[in-house]
Amino acid sequence: MRILLLQIVWLAVAVELACFGGDPVTKVPLGLDEFIPVPEDNPQTGEKIELGRRLFFDKQLSRDGTIACATCHLPERALTDAKPVAVGIEGRPGRRNAPSLFNRAYGKAFFWDGRVKSLEEQPLTAITNRNEMDLTLPEFEFRLDRNRDYSMAFGSVFGERPHARNAAKALATFVRTLLSGNSPFDRFEHGDQNALSDAAKRGLQIFRGKGNCIPCHSGPLLSDEEFHNTGVSWGKEPLDLGRFEVTKREQDRGKFKTATLRNIALTAPYMHDGSLATLDDVIEFYSKGALPNPSLDREVRPLNLHPEEKVDLITFLKCLSGELQIEPQL
Ligand code: HEC
Ligand code: HEC
Repeated sequence: MRILLLQIVWLAVAVELACFGGDPVTKVPLGLDEFIPVPEDNPQTGEKIELGRRLFFDKQLSRDGTIACATCHLPERALTDAKPVAVGIEGRPGRRNAPSLFNRAYGKAFFWDGRVKSLEEQPLTAITNRNEMDLTLPEFEFRLDRNRDYSMAFGSVFGERPHARNAAKALATFVRTLLSGNSPFDRFEHGDQNALSDAAKRGLQIFRGKGNCIPCHSGPLLSDEEFHNTGVSWGKEPLDLGRFEVTKREQDRGKFKTATLRNIALTAPYMHDGSLATLDDVIEFYSKGALPNPSLDREVRPLNLHPEEKVDLITFLKCLSGELQIEPQL
């Protein structure tokens, strides 16, 4: 049954789905905000979620039929791809690391530089991007239209023949159901003292105290959804100026969106350019004070963490892995 959403649950905690007026209402896992913003002109419905899911896993949406959204956003890697930078059709490398798509329903700006403002706007950029799926919009619409299943599903969901804007709406609707929470950290925060080991509790102290991670990695997403310069790409070729490329404001030079730390153990390699291979590398990077440059964020400074503090901090970061709520490819 379509409205019985299946899901991969990694920590063996079943997520219940309530059904409301025939439409599935995805249950929000522990640790996330109950309120999920949804645009008025694109409400969540079960049928539309299902259509978006099919599009997400469909390789025919790339020019040569080799790449789906899910090729770069793999369910088993918390919707990342384990590569430093994403690779599109014909092995063409992009310039940035594929971010996790969990909990993007709460996002305010998308991509590492925030240049996309809504989940509805995002999918067509991936489909047409030369280094991703490289399909023209007319060809994209033609392929959907000639496919009987799609043209019927679009007719039923939108009352129209398939076109790019509606396909983007369906994909956005699907992406909004991709939630992840109920990690050991969430259970600890909600009163289960045994959810974290002593080492993880010490790591949490460092995260909040000496490590000074909280100014940026805060709130339910462990990201302030703002842009900061931590120097990751400073002085590197090819030059990636991050937020500056969008705003052209001098103070945004080298700033990138704070990444969520949920499921961080599953999403290596790290940073917008995939330049740090492991969590050890990330902690080493921060311990040294990131990469000093004239625009470095003032919350970043050398931490000089002791070896055991580094181990504790990493133990804590591993406790941010939670349920990955996604319907598998049927
Ligand atoms: C070739 C690999 C690739 C494919 C295919 C791909 N993506 Fe992505 N995706 C990326 C990369 C890389 C980024 C980050 C780009 C940037 O910041 O400039 C990204 C970013 C995103 C984001 C923004 C997330 C955030 O937190 O900012 C969303 C949403 C997304 N992709 C959804 C999709 C959907 C839907 C599809 C299919 C239509 C898709 N992607 C296809 C690699 C890919
Ligand atoms: C000034 C804000 C700021 C502070 C403080 C900060 N971070 Fe970050 N963090 C960021 C930004 C911005 C990124 C993305 C940087 C990039 O890719 O260029 C990031 C990326 C990361 C990543 C990689 C995420 C991914 O998916 O690639 C990890 C892990 C991380 N931070 C952990 C930490 C830890 C642990 C601390 C404390 C020791 C910390 N951060 C302190 C802003 C900050």
